[in-house]
Amino acid sequence: MKEELNILIQAQYPLIYLVTSEEERAEQSIFTIAQASKPQRRVFVWTVTHGIVEYGQPRNVTQHNTVSPEAAIEWIIRQREPGIFILKDLHPFIDAPATTRSLRDAIASFKGTQKNIILMSPMQQVPIELEKEVVVLDFSLPDMGELNKVLTNHLDRNRGRRLTTEAREKLLRAALGLTKDEAEKVYRKAQVTTGRLTEDEVDIVLSEKKQLIRRNGILEYIEEDETIDAVGGLEELKKWLKQRSNAFTERAREYGLPQPKGMLILGVPGCGKSLIAKTTSRLWGLPLLRLDMGRVYDGSMVGRSEANLRNALKTAESISPAILFIDELDKSFAGSAGSGDSDGGTSSRIFGSFLTWMQEKKSPVFVMATANRVERLPGEFLRKGRFDEIFFVDLPTPEERQDIFTIHLSKRRGDISRFDLGQLSKMSDGFSGAEIEQAIVAAMYEAFAQDREFTQLDIIAALKATLPLSRTMQEQVTALRDWARQRARPAAASVAEYQRMEF
Ligand SMILES: Nc1ncnc2c1ncn2[C@@H]1O[C@H](COP(=O)(O)OP(=O)(O)OP(=O)(O)O)[C@@H](O)[C@H]1O
Ligand SMILES: [Mg+2]
Repeated sequence: MKEELNILIQAQYPLIYLVTSEEERAEQSIFTIAQASKPQRRVFVWTVTHGIVEYGQPRNVTQHNTVSPEAAIEWIIRQREPGIFILKDLHPFIDAPATTRSLRDAIASFKGTQKNIILMSPMQQVPIELEKEVVVLDFSLPDMGELNKVLTNHLDRNRGRRLTTEAREKLLRAALGLTKDEAEKVYRKAQVTTGRLTEDEVDIVLSEKKQLIRRNGILEYIEEDETIDAVGGLEELKKWLKQRSNAFTERAREYGLPQPKGMLILGVPGCGKSLIAKTTSRLWGLPLLRLDMGRVYDGSMVGRSEANLRNALKTAESISPAILFIDELDKSFAGSAGSGDSDGGTSSRIFGSFLTWMQEKKSPVFVMATANRVERLPGEFLRKGRFDEIFFVDLPTPEERQDIFTIHLSKRRGDISRFDLGQLSKMSDGFSGAEIEQAIVAAMYEAFAQDREFTQLDIIAALKATLPLSRTMQEQVTALRDWARQRARPAAASVAEYQRMEF
C-alpha cells in the first residue's frame, strides 16, 4: 500500500484520496515518502481548525488566512516548490461548489509541477465532478512489520523480557487487524494484567482484540463450542469441508492449489446451515467473523454505508486467514435484487462493492454465506465461479433424522438406549433439525413439570403436536427444491434419496 502511494506521488497524480482513520500513521508514511523523493518535498497539512501548517511545525505556525477550504487550495496553487499537501477531513466541505471547483483548478495548475494534494479522511466521499481525477486508496492496517515496531517499542519502554521468535510472532499475529493505537493499547493492557508481556499473554491480546472488533459493531467475532460432529447428516457437505481443512496452509500453495474463495449454503430453514458454517471455524482452525449486513447500512450520511463495508472487509483481510460468515445473505441484499431504488441506490452500490471485493480479493478470506430465499438473491451471486460451490441443504432424510435425534439426545442424557431411534425418525417425517431439537425440549419440559424422566412417548406426543414448517410453507420449500435441483450440489450423502424427490 505504501509502495502504491509512493508510486502515485512520484507519477504526479495530482489528487489522491486516502481513506483512513489512522491520521498519524498515514502522515508519517507520507512524510517518509516525501523525504525520500528526489527532489525532497515539503509536506503541508490543512485542517479546518488551523488552516495550513507545515508538517512537524507547531500548530500555531499557520499560513496566514488558509482556514477556509478555497483559500487553502488557492494558497496551494500559488506554491512554486515541490510539495505534498494533505487536506484532512475535507469531506464535509467537498460537495460545496467552490471547493470542488478550486480542487479542479488546482489539478489543472499542477501539470508539470511536483505537487500532489492528498485528501485524508475516514470516509470516502467524492463528488461526481472529481470522480475521474481522483485516485482512491485505502490506507491498510499495520502489517506484521509495523506491529513489530509497536511491540518492540512497548517492550523497550517497559524493560520487557526478550521474546523468542515464535512468541513474538504469536503476539504480533494476535494483534493483526488492529490499528497502531489499538495494538499499543492491547499490549499495554496485557502488560498491566499480569505484569509482563510474553507468550502467555497472547490470550489476553486476543480477547482484547475481539472486544475492539465487537465495538466496531459490524464484524463480530464468533466462538462456537460445537464441532462439526454436532451436525447430523449433510455428509457430502461435511466431506467437502473436511477435504479443505488444510486449504489455507503454505503446503497447499506449494502444491499448486488455489485458495478457496467461498461457499453458499442454500436451504430449508432450521436444517443446520448456520450451525455448519459456525462449526467450520473449528474444523479449519480459523477465526470466524460474522458480517452483519444490517449494521452496514447507515443512512445518516452519504457514503457512510460504503465506508462501513470497506472497513469491515479491511479488518477481515488483516485478520486472515479467516472465515467471513454472512448469514441470511438473501435478507442482506434483498433491496438490490428487486426494482427497489427506495434507498437511493445504496443497497445496489453496497452489493456492487461486495461483489467486486469478492472477485478481486487475494487475501485468504473464505466467504461462507447462507440463504433460504433464492428468488431474493441477485443473480450475480449465483453465477458459476463466484463461489467455489453452492450447496443445497434439504430436509433431513430418515437416516439423517436418526443422526440428529442421537446428537440431541446424547447432549442431554448420557444413556439413550431407552429410545427407539428408528421409530422417532419415522414419526418425524418432514421435520427439520431445529424442529426435532424443539420436540425433544418440549418433551423434557412436559416431563419435568410432572417431576419425572422424559420418555419416548413424550417425544412422540411433542412431534404430533407440531406442524412442521415444511408443511405450513410447502410451496416455498417445493420451489426452493426445484430451483436447487438443477443448480446446487446436494449436501446430503444419499443422492438417491435426493433424486427420489424429483417425483
Ligand atoms: N442437521 C442438524 N444436526 C443437528 N442439529 C441441527 C441440524 N439442523 C438443525 N439443527 C439444530 O437446529 C438449530 C438451528 O439450526 P440452524 O440455525 O443451523 O438452521 P438454519 O438452517 O441456519 O436455519 P435458518 O434458515 O432459519 O437460518 C441448530 O442450532 C441445531 O441445534
Ligand atoms: Mg440460519
